[in-house]
Amino acid sequence: MKMIHLLRVVPLAGWSFARLCSKSVILGLILSQLLTAQTSGTTISEKEVRVRVDDLLSKMTLQEKINQMAQVGAYALPGTPSLTPDEAALQGIGSILWVKDPVQINKLQHIAVEQSRMHIPVLFGLDVIHGFDTIFPAPLTMAASWDPTVAEKGQAVAAREARASGIAWTFAPMVDIARDARWGRIIEGAGEDPYLGAAMARAQVQGFQGDNLASPDHVLACAKHFAGYGAPDGGRDYDSVYISEDQLWNVYFPPFKAAEEAGVGSFMSAYMDLNNVPATGNRFLMHDVLRDTWGFKGFVVSDARAVADLVTHGFAHDAEDAAYRAATAGVNMDMVGGIYYGNLEKLVRAGKIKEPQIDELTRPILAAKIRLGLFEHPYVDESLHAQVVSDHASTNMARWAAQRSITLLRNEGNILPLDKTGKRISSLAVIGPLADDRMAQMSMWGSGGDRKRVVTVIEGIRNFLGDRVRVEYVKGPNVHRQIPSYFGRMLGEDDPQLTPRQTQEEISKAVTVAKNCDAVVVVLGETAFLSGESAARSTLELPGNQEDLLKAVVATGKPVVLVLINGRPLDISWAAENVSAIVEAGIPGSEGGDAIADALFGDINPGGKLPVTWPLHTGQVPIYYAHNLSNVPEGSPIYAGRYSDIPTTPLYPFGYGLSYTTFSITDLKIDSPATKVGGTVTASVEVENTGKIAGDEVVQLYIHQRAGQASRPVRELKGFRRITLARGEKRSVKFTLGKDELSYWSTIEKKWVLEPEHFDVWVGEDSTAKLHGEFALTK
Ligand code: NOJ
Repeated sequence: MKMIHLLRVVPLAGWSFARLCSKSVILGLILSQLLTAQTSGTTISEKEVRVRVDDLLSKMTLQEKINQMAQVGAYALPGTPSLTPDEAALQGIGSILWVKDPVQINKLQHIAVEQSRMHIPVLFGLDVIHGFDTIFPAPLTMAASWDPTVAEKGQAVAAREARASGIAWTFAPMVDIARDARWGRIIEGAGEDPYLGAAMARAQVQGFQGDNLASPDHVLACAKHFAGYGAPDGGRDYDSVYISEDQLWNVYFPPFKAAEEAGVGSFMSAYMDLNNVPATGNRFLMHDVLRDTWGFKGFVVSDARAVADLVTHGFAHDAEDAAYRAATAGVNMDMVGGIYYGNLEKLVRAGKIKEPQIDELTRPILAAKIRLGLFEHPYVDESLHAQVVSDHASTNMARWAAQRSITLLRNEGNILPLDKTGKRISSLAVIGPLADDRMAQMSMWGSGGDRKRVVTVIEGIRNFLGDRVRVEYVKGPNVHRQIPSYFGRMLGEDDPQLTPRQTQEEISKAVTVAKNCDAVVVVLGETAFLSGESAARSTLELPGNQEDLLKAVVATGKPVVLVLINGRPLDISWAAENVSAIVEAGIPGSEGGDAIADALFGDINPGGKLPVTWPLHTGQVPIYYAHNLSNVPEGSPIYAGRYSDIPTTPLYPFGYGLSYTTFSITDLKIDSPATKVGGTVTASVEVENTGKIAGDEVVQLYIHQRAGQASRPVRELKGFRRITLARGEKRSVKFTLGKDELSYWSTIEKKWVLEPEHFDVWVGEDSTAKLHGEFALTK
């Protein structure tokens, strides 16, 4: 037993410790490490995890257990007293975040494993949101692929690169549903829909965690921000959220539930008030729903400082009360607030919290470390990172992911794809502040990635065309935030504001270049800190003078293609009528420029679809397709005229996206007009590529329950399939609707119900699909 314990804590590279040991012991240790490495493909049994956790707990002091429940930042947040990382490692703090360098990680790990009393390794965590060095498309952009394998493969690369640096835990995926595009963090999720959101959540968890957490290329995932963070009042980050019970269960919870079912190891509690109880002190969320109803066995970490901020919220009286409320609500780990570390012991001594409660909170943290194999392999091979990140396959994967996520919004007169031979277009103007912006392509959360590796749009176009076409580039006016970003400032980012005169000069330069070229690609959108945390916008228009630039370029009469680099839906209603072609690239990541060029010149055929409704005007938000019917029939003049100044319909519906080819979706067949409650219904359609080239279609199925105990949304996505069809190819696509698709949470019965009612079905290429069928569930 003693020996086994030693094997767990003694690192291969633990030289100072090794000096204390005899040669034969060292040889034995090396052999055992090698054997462990060879067998790290097998997952450890639950029973063994339990035994090992019990063993550790039986040897730990109360404060040591509490220390495992604390997470310390590599730097302290303003106003937050904190241990230094070295002190944290020495005192057996459970987790350290915001360290990325494997050398520093090893240094701290050596302290924890060799010098702390219990020798428990530190769990290093980081926000690996859409890539570590190789940056993949942002989650909202990946969701536009409507292909969960994109999310899974992308996050698998991210996990591999992160683990090779010593990071064993990511604070991702963010699975918050967002229906108000003013909210800057809409970029981090999969958009507005619970069904698509659940599919993307599952895929990301699988990509990060794989089948064995102890393997050297996976990390523990964290589903965040539990729950409702995506619906703050006015889209203002951190603001209060009021979500009805119906909406929580039917809309906001499903992606979290999907992550839980996929085996996600941790959850993060959200910052904001949910129905007047801060999520971090919310026992309903973390106890009643997460543990009691879903049976979650992992651990919950608070968001950064969120335990301390229970006082800021006006919820807890003081730090001690905050520690009490968060711990009893079910938060296992306090992220960077120092509140657990400084207060839990006092609470136990005062008898307000019992030590067994602390044991239960510490248990899943230790279990995660065991499952991750950290006791056997606490250190990272410092040369591994360089080797892993230079893997060309990851770069190719990032390009593939960006290609799959590109969404074609408009293509009047089939102006795209552009001629790539140099014959019809011998000169091309590339204009716009987003054409050569590395940071924008990476986003705020990808900013830790390798900036040098980013291929910008201008670079991608030049790479693609070589000498065949003369390419000229003008940046145009800068884009910047009116109010600087707290996070942008930390990273020293933001373009300087130009004077009106400088702006005009930039626009004139762009017009001159456009006039001298055969065609123009204008690249507009949002810079890195215009989306992400604390990046709400009051208007969804193109920021700054970008629309002026676009109008001036379009006025030259040259063929214009608009490429958008953006973290959220934008109000591009002018462009949607006046620019011939619009390509939505979202936040495309490191390989974005090459992928965009592939699409512009037809080496790939765009097949993405919008994962979120694009409003016609900011005043429409929140706007989403799965709204309820009202008292007024849809399509009646009174319904259509509800706004006195704009239509009520969005600019682009959820699920919308074009292709360079065309498809027909016909012959909707439903296997049975009536099925007993609890049975399954099958719907099938014929999909045909009716155009001239191969392409992808995302076939989408929506349902509507006509009546029941509650009003149900006018349409709900309940199936989708992205398929590739060669020119002229036809294929059947089948969907099965069962209990999961046809039930909903009833606030009357307080449970999921399946009702014997009539259902409409539509199948098509977006949420306005016309092909209709129906069936009934019977008693
Ligand atoms: C605050 C953010 O809300 C959260 O998403 C993130 O994981 C933590 N900070 C850690 O960086």
